[in-house]
Amino acid sequence: MCGIVAYIGNREACPLIIKGLKRLEYRGYDSSGVALIEDSELNIYKKKGKVSDLESQLTDKNLNAKIGIGHTRWATHGEPNDVNAHPHFSNDRKLAIIHNGIIENYAAIKQNLIQKGHVFQSATDTEVLIHFIEDIQKETGTSLEEAVRLALLEVVGAYAIVVMSVDFPDQLIAARKGSPLVIGVGKDEFFFASDATPIIEYTKDVVYLDDYEVAVVRDGKLSIQNLDNTQKVPYIQKLEMELETIEKGGYDHFMIKEIFEQPRSIADSMRGRVRADEAHLQLGGLANYIDKLAASERIVIVGCGTSWHAGLVAEYLFEELARINVEVEYASEFRYRNPVIKENDIVIAISQSGETADTLAAIELAKSKGATIFGVCNVVGSSIARASHAGAYTHAGPEIGVASTKAFTAQVTVLTLIAIATAKRKGTISEETYRQLLVELETIPAKVEQVFENAAKIKEIAFIFTYARNFIYLGRGLNFPVALEGALKLKEISYIHAEGYPAAEMKHGPIALIDEDMPVVFLATKDSSYEKIVSNIQEVKARKGRVIAIVTEGDTLIPTMVDFVIEVPKVHEILTPLVSVIPLQLLSYYIAVMRGRNVDQPRNLAKSVTVE
Ligand code: G6P
Repeated sequence: MCGIVAYIGNREACPLIIKGLKRLEYRGYDSSGVALIEDSELNIYKKKGKVSDLESQLTDKNLNAKIGIGHTRWATHGEPNDVNAHPHFSNDRKLAIIHNGIIENYAAIKQNLIQKGHVFQSATDTEVLIHFIEDIQKETGTSLEEAVRLALLEVVGAYAIVVMSVDFPDQLIAARKGSPLVIGVGKDEFFFASDATPIIEYTKDVVYLDDYEVAVVRDGKLSIQNLDNTQKVPYIQKLEMELETIEKGGYDHFMIKEIFEQPRSIADSMRGRVRADEAHLQLGGLANYIDKLAASERIVIVGCGTSWHAGLVAEYLFEELARINVEVEYASEFRYRNPVIKENDIVIAISQSGETADTLAAIELAKSKGATIFGVCNVVGSSIARASHAGAYTHAGPEIGVASTKAFTAQVTVLTLIAIATAKRKGTISEETYRQLLVELETIPAKVEQVFENAAKIKEIAFIFTYARNFIYLGRGLNFPVALEGALKLKEISYIHAEGYPAAEMKHGPIALIDEDMPVVFLATKDSSYEKIVSNIQEVKARKGRVIAIVTEGDTLIPTMVDFVIEVPKVHEILTPLVSVIPLQLLSYYIAVMRGRNVDQPRNLAKSVTVE
């Protein structure tokens, strides 16, 4: 969604901000802009389209500002165009603002300001906020910082903002509620951004702003206060991210880099947690809660998109291994029902970004009803991680491609570890199964590597189906969520309509769609539902569907029945999704590339969905 970058210091702000905005491009946006104070003038430059469009508009200008704010916008109020792009001016054009989030009561505030003579250029809620700040400043004669605080006390909604004023070129003011904001602390310089990626090459010292906090940089010093006016001591943390992890490193796209990173990211998500030779499994963040998990009668899992699919995998794992009743909910549905939550319920919130607005709201709701919240997040220090009582990071490293790949396998890995640890504590698995699962888990990175040996074959299949108009993905048991994930990957990046179904459910509708033009991807690995899936394949073949089957290596039956097979190595059934999803990621990637799609930034999608 929207991306924020701001700078104050001794460097040239404009190129630094543009570079930072490019680092945030992965989050999804439709326009961008910068505001700079140069020679006592506040100027705003903005443009619909890519950051490179904005950049070309700036090339002939001699910009030497040492302070500036920049933004990539994902439209909520008002269509994506130059005028609605951020930053926005105040009425007297002395203040400028960038904003991520939504001001829900903007219409009432706007009406009031119009009556006072304010004239608005855009259809955005953000412009209303900066006019409101200006109005308060003028009416009360207070400082800009105080005007920001007073305005935010009146605002309903979510925001991360940065404000600057031509009258105070040594000041930047930022605040957050519900939208992330990180402050990089350098030597005599400060960086503000929606996530750490624009900051990492300049400093590793960062402060994560909390909800209801206002940060002010003035005269080279950072101070933080709460909206209720209490001062806070900035807590500086060290970033663990490395620059190379947010660059393409020779790959054509981040997505393919991230797919190929999975042997390492899966290993990283187990690092320090699993040692099969010592039968050791421990998740530090959960140590104090494992008894509670083992004693729980119900786990509710909430998430969105790919994270919801990881939740569906976890449902099978917890039920199978730990014999705990699990419900998996779309966070957006859960939060607007009146869900029955009891005090001893455990809610597991799964989120790559840790910022998804619906997931965050779902856990706040569950918390208010007394549930214990476990966060399974990838982004360290993210809002969901911080709002949870306990949790486990997935440690997949930054995921830049909008279509989630390595984050999914890392989520599944961590959820598998939690399920095994819970089952062990509860005594629902034997010592032998426990040890066997740990040994098998350690072999997964090498087995994923083995799947990559099929990349050329998958590319050939992608070539054959490049212009298919529809796809069906079918799987049973643990492979059902994988079918959903495979279909999601394809539609996200290639824009081909794709549906995932439990294979047996096919008879109740989707079978009507099967003909010689319909590609059907079967997840048909050798597991407890193998015979059943073989029958489902026959049903599709009898109707001339074209079948691509993901099979276990050495399978001799299915290759005689289907059009194409892709082998994956044999793994313990519980761990199947970690290998069976890999060919589906590759298939969707190659099809999208062959169709000339913008793989890393598919249309209309955002990496981090911070609005509901
Ligand atoms: C967006 C992304 C998806 C992601 C979903 C949930 O739709 O494009 O890839 O699965 O949000 O995001 P989260 O960060 O909570 O996992």
